[in-house]
Amino acid sequence: MNDATLSRGGRPPRYDAAVPEEAPVDQSRFRAPIGTHDVLPPESERWMAFVAAFAERAARYGFGLVLTPIFEHLEVFQRVGESTDVVRKEMYDFEDKGGRRIALRPEGTAPVVRAFVQHHPPVPWKVWYVAPHFRYERPQKGRYRQHWQVGAEVLGVDDPEVDVEVIALAHGFYRALGLEHVNLVINSMGDEHSRPAYIALLREYLLDHAAQLGDTFRERVEANPLRVLDSKVEDWQDVIERAPQLTAHLSDESRESFEIVQLRLRELGIRYELAPRLVRGFDYYTGTTFEFQSAALDAAQNAIGGGGRYGKLAEEMGGAPTSGIGFGIGVERVLIACEAEAVAQPAATHADVFVVNAFRGDAAGEGSAEAARLVYELRESGVRAERTYGDRSVKAQFKAADKSGARRTVVLGQDEAVRNAVTVKDLVSGEQLEIGRDGLAEWLELRNDEDHVTKST
Ligand code: HAM
Repeated sequence: MNDATLSRGGRPPRYDAAVPEEAPVDQSRFRAPIGTHDVLPPESERWMAFVAAFAERAARYGFGLVLTPIFEHLEVFQRVGESTDVVRKEMYDFEDKGGRRIALRPEGTAPVVRAFVQHHPPVPWKVWYVAPHFRYERPQKGRYRQHWQVGAEVLGVDDPEVDVEVIALAHGFYRALGLEHVNLVINSMGDEHSRPAYIALLREYLLDHAAQLGDTFRERVEANPLRVLDSKVEDWQDVIERAPQLTAHLSDESRESFEIVQLRLRELGIRYELAPRLVRGFDYYTGTTFEFQSAALDAAQNAIGGGGRYGKLAEEMGGAPTSGIGFGIGVERVLIACEAEAVAQPAATHADVFVVNAFRGDAAGEGSAEAARLVYELRESGVRAERTYGDRSVKAQFKAADKSGARRTVVLGQDEAVRNAVTVKDLVSGEQLEIGRDGLAEWLELRNDEDHVTKST
């Protein structure tokens, strides 16, 4: 042991430890893969609260939970668009042991539509989900290879009123979290009567500039000119900004529908901005598209949710023509935005009571057995109870109780045990009280309820 070890507060080396004979374990193999992360307590408490709040809100809007597999046949996801980055570059796809082409879910809409086509539920079919999504992207803050989304979809009603309900569901969720710096941007992708003519016009316009902007630009335009519109490549921005806009080329039906969406949003007091170049990352969108952007995040990752209407996806999967609309909200990004705006912070969770074994010289383990029994009974009757393990002094147990954040300790002693009682000590006021063992759980529950009421008022 040398002074340096001591001054760094490190443990003294154990000279009796066995010297490993094998090569040391490569610890980099035992870390979460790049672009993924573990969510540990207390951060996970925040996740649970987040999902619970979304679930409650979705139920209020009439949505039921849908659970689809984490992987699907590759074809399901190919339907979201061959020209999209998600399909071209980011899919986690592989061949399974039966030789099937499989992909991990990169987005949530295609599996929901696949399930709809497969099971023919009655319409309108209103469902919500919470699920991990996988995209092979370059990881950075707010952009991960596994991220989580909560989302919602409505299938079977092609009505702008539904578009507004879906937008309102997401909009209210951000508000309920306390986020204030969230901007809603909307656009319309038009329908089969307006889009082909617009795409032809856009392609022609963009190709006119291809000579000066290079091969990648030309390739993108040829694959799908719409994909160029929301590109962030700096050199292309001038040309993109002057490109013809879809909303100026909508069919009468699409325009009327989009106008109703806007009118209703205004009537509900939901503020929005028009974003004529918002095409979003999938080919399935027709009609209304929207995105929620956080002004508290970097522009590259400021989308904290987005969605839109998709008119053809069910048919493309062999189903009857069925229009749908929905959105996905990125859980990690919203939580980063909550941090940036200092709202919806994790509530510290802790035990309600800490059981202390104060049996004198507990060699027979009587006190320890009593502590185990009491902790069990309290937990089973709804009280969060904690204790220490092993042979710890009363002083050490009280120290652990303090650290645990519990409001009260229940002290077990021989003298009280004779009277079938325990001593409850309030760690805040220092008050001490003897309580009968039989009514203890009920008494503690009552005190806890009172504590919660005082805390929340
Ligand atoms: P998306 O815009 O690709 O849409 O994803 C939805 C949200 O998930 C984004 O706004 C963002 O918050 C989050 N997100 C996406 N990629 C990542 C990533 N790599 N890391 C962290 N967060 C991410 C969809 O997925 C559509 N399925 C939405 C939809 C539903 N459209 C119609 N219905």
